[in-house]
Amino acid sequence: MINVLFAARPERWTTYEQPLHAALNAAGINAHLAQDIAPADVDYIVYAPNSDLQDFTPYTRARAVLNLWAGVEQITSNKTLSIPLARMVDPGLTKGMVEWVTGHVMRYHLGMDAHILNPSHTWEVFTPPLAQERDVVILGLGALGTACAQTLLGLGFRVTGWSRSPKDVQGVNCLHGDDGLIKALELAEIAVTLLPDTPSTTDILNAKTLAMMPRGAYLINPGRGPLIDDNALIAALDSGQIAHATLDVFRKEPLPKDDPYWTHPQVTVTPHIAAETRANTASQAVVENIRRGEAGEPFLNLVDRALGY
Ligand code: NDP
Ligand code: OXD
Repeated sequence: MINVLFAARPERWTTYEQPLHAALNAAGINAHLAQDIAPADVDYIVYAPNSDLQDFTPYTRARAVLNLWAGVEQITSNKTLSIPLARMVDPGLTKGMVEWVTGHVMRYHLGMDAHILNPSHTWEVFTPPLAQERDVVILGLGALGTACAQTLLGLGFRVTGWSRSPKDVQGVNCLHGDDGLIKALELAEIAVTLLPDTPSTTDILNAKTLAMMPRGAYLINPGRGPLIDDNALIAALDSGQIAHATLDVFRKEPLPKDDPYWTHPQVTVTPHIAAETRANTASQAVVENIRRGEAGEPFLNLVDRALGY
């Protein structure tokens, strides 16, 4: 029998208790799963970074922390954590992100606002280009960025992706490194940021890099708030360099009431809802890592603490 601690906000327990039990049973793992287990007896920690557990020192026998979130910026610098940390790669979350990103790309691509909002009731006829005539750039070609790139490619878009290391995604123009970023931004009629929040991605979209994008470009950020220098983005929106931005994540969440993004006419704000971890599929991902731990196999989706993601 192993002990699995569920360390997330108490309200998440009602969502996860049954799916985690079901996944453990399906994997044939005999486990005691609870929100309260003596630290020295815990074998695995199913974890959300906003839980009360911030000091991992007493968890002397724990073999891994299994994060329920894809983003790990709130935990990578925790000096009390020395055991393996796995981040969430959940097919349900990925599908959610693909749908959210595709919807917002299509809004910009088709110029939907002109017809949906149209306060002056003008008979304005315009034909949007076909997807094959539109460049979409995804900054971050990981689990989420790659899935979004493949779906957009399937719709016919010209898709470029940018990552830290070289990638080969069929049909996608894969770029990496500093030169790759410049080339990617120069193409970015619509840019989607799906990078993690790390010291090397902070303010990656700033006055200089926003100016590299084609004039009148669109920006969609479901990644993390600190990827964008907010003052630079507002200046770029005001000057028309960026036509419109859709922002799901912010430096401060919930977005403070007096934040200029709320009222900027060229900004759509969404409340960090681009993609949610889905309890059924996420529980299977967590349990697969517990199974691996018990079988002595390498864990999946381990975070590189030095890189911060
Ligand atoms: P991954 O770790 O799978 O992918 C991250 C990608 O970013 C990789 O392609 C990586 O490159 C690239 N990258 C990281 N650092 C750099 C850098 N310095 N320069 C260039 N590329 C870099 O993460 P996911 O795709 O699973 O998730 C991405 C982010 O999405 C999460 O970190 C989280 O912040 C956000 N998120 C937001 C949600 C929301 O609801 N708004 C929900 C879930 C996630 P390489 O491939 O070479 O390693
Ligand atoms: C995540 C998120 O990181 O919801 O999973 O943003």
